Amino acid sequence: MHLDKEDIKISVDSLNELLANTYVLSVKTQNFHWNVEDPRFAMLHDFFGNHYEMLIEAIDEIAERIRMLGEYAPGSMAGYLKVASVKEAGLIQDGTSMLQELAKDHRIVIGILRKSIECVTKTQDQGTLDFLIGRLQEHEKMAWMITSHCKA
Ligand SMILES: [Fe+2]
Repeated sequence: MHLDKEDIKISVDSLNELLANTYVLSVKTQNFHWNVEDPRFAMLHDFFGNHYEMLIEAIDEIAERIRMLGEYAPGSMAGYLKVASVKEAGLIQDGTSMLQELAKDHRIVIGILRKSIECVTKTQDQGTLDFLIGRLQEHEKMAWMITSHCKA
């Protein structure tokens, strides 16, 4: 692929941070899919389930992108929790609090992605740049869907 080592390091650091945050967010979203208690249960149960599936798919793509750059993908929950800015959920059962919590988390991921995109823009790694922009667009869409349920 002929990328220099410094460019690869910038991309892999960004992808590792994204992987950790996406993993914690996926577990949190699945927790909400299971445990929501709300008059809108059926809708929110499906909504969180769909978002969980989107995040799980993204996790696989992020890890495989790290492998494409020649590095090993971190695969440890303890490691993800150490790196992630997104925090695991405490005990929440009502839908609105869950939506507000996820809106905040997607905004955290969006902020991380914007910073990463700024760094990777300065490298020759256009493949990762495009990938990160795609991830940004998906989180922007998910954040819009979440905040459309409630002012969060
Ligand atoms: Fe399920």
